[in-house]
Amino acid sequence: MKGHKGIEEVLIEKSKLKERVVELAKDITKDYINKQPLVMICVLKGAIVFFADLIREIELDVQIDFVALSSYGGNTVSSGNVRMNKDVGCDLTGRDVIVVEDIIDTGVSMDILMERLKNKGTRSVKLCALLSKPSRRRTEIKIDYLGFEIPDEFVVGYGLDYDEKYRNLDYIGIYKA
Ligand code: IMP
Ligand code: MG
Repeated sequence: MKGHKGIEEVLIEKSKLKERVVELAKDITKDYINKQPLVMICVLKGAIVFFADLIREIELDVQIDFVALSSYGGNTVSSGNVRMNKDVGCDLTGRDVIVVEDIIDTGVSMDILMERLKNKGTRSVKLCALLSKPSRRRTEIKIDYLGFEIPDEFVVGYGLDYDEKYRNLDYIGIYKA
């Protein structure tokens, strides 16, 4: 994509993202070798690019599903208001599940989602996130598979948006209005 107006700096370049995705997939493959098929749940829309790359590097039987949570809209600060706009479509009873999210910021959305999935009778629910901003955390949340810790900056690209823009950048950039 050309014309990256608003991107102040490239934080994580394409090759670094690719390298880390392969490492995460290796870890997951090793940990779930005896727990197949694994259910991987993509949190729409931000995780979609990461999810698509990650699942193709995992050498296991994988089933996929999607959930959608309400996002920030046109704001760069979390509202703390979390709504589930789309629930999973399959029965998760007795299943081993990994939730794949783009970024853990305050942690509020994932806290709510993980709790909800555990209440569906799952055998295990783990969290895989591409990015984490630990300095912004408002709730304790365990990230089982983490791509990168980043500073408190608003980032876009590789699925992440500002006001629905920039999702198709192939790197993570720092956005400044
Ligand atoms: P949390 O509930 O505060 O952890 O919010 C997490 C959600 O907020 C993520 O799934 C993103 O959709 C969005 N978000 C948080 N930080 C950023 C950012 O730096 N760029 C883009 N979206 C973000
Ligand atoms: Mg999100």
